[in-house]
Amino acid sequence: MAVRQFTLAPCRAAGDFDTLLMEALEDLSVSWMSQPDGTVTLWVDGTEADDARGALLSKDIEIMAERDEPERDWLEESAALRKAVAAGRYLFDPHEGERASPPGRRRRIYLPAARAFGTASHESTRLAVRLLQRLSVAGLTVVDAGCGAGTLGFVARLEGAARVVAFDIDCDAALAVREHAASNGIAGVLPFAGSTAALSAVAPWADLVVANMLREEVLPLVPDLARILKPGGLLLTSGQLAEAEESFVVELSRAGFEVFLLLKENEWLATASRKRGART
Ligand SMILES: C[S@@+](CC[C@H](N)C(=O)[O-])C[C@H]1O[C@@H](n2cnc3c(N)ncnc32)[C@H](O)[C@@H]1O
Repeated sequence: MAVRQFTLAPCRAAGDFDTLLMEALEDLSVSWMSQPDGTVTLWVDGTEADDARGALLSKDIEIMAERDEPERDWLEESAALRKAVAAGRYLFDPHEGERASPPGRRRRIYLPAARAFGTASHESTRLAVRLLQRLSVAGLTVVDAGCGAGTLGFVARLEGAARVVAFDIDCDAALAVREHAASNGIAGVLPFAGSTAALSAVAPWADLVVANMLREEVLPLVPDLARILKPGGLLLTSGQLAEAEESFVVELSRAGFEVFLLLKENEWLATASRKRGART
């Protein structure tokens, strides 16, 4: 059954937002999570979306956005984590030894499915891999924002990036990137645990940022990412819903980026945009 996702504006009412939401929604099947920017993401069973909307409005809670979450087949997704996945010149394989898949002419990257983040089985990772191969990254300084297992940073490096800085708010990711870099013999990927606040922006230093994250995760980071990118630098995003293409492109444009390439797979969208300003 479809799940409806609401984005709620930061609470203006006195008192605790959680208590207010509990009071408003106590009879409904819901869950919610506070975001770092003060907004709240709320998930509601699709059949109760109208009731939830009414209850929120009755408590003067502002709904900033509302959308259906694409339905997910969890069984198929967990099976996909155990299969090797090809994307362009790469084969991402969760197995090694006897169970490893023959890569043929592709470069095999071993990514065990031992941790929570992706093994490239998701469309949004594959779309980002395709963008990295489509654009010339040779010699560039690349940032892999929300790196997870390090997949995109590894591809950037193998495509010739001079160096890659990879970060994720999930502390386990930095450890995973180190382990996977070593087991795949990939040097020059520097991982850290944290978010954009830790990226020094005394002067713009990055040529390209790749970020495979949901809209509500990536948009708050875009101003910081714009600060570290050189004029003319590239921002590659993936993990957006294709149905929200227009508004996402508008948000990027407001933040100083000109979108020049869109790729889609099923309901997912990836974008490549250039930071306005003369290249240095
Ligand atoms: C969809 S996963 C993508 C992982 C990997 N880049 C890939 O393409 O397979 C998104 C990642 O972004 C990370 N993330 C979300 N918000 C973040 C933030 N504010 N700063 C850094 N990482 C973040 C999550 O922890 C998660 O690992």
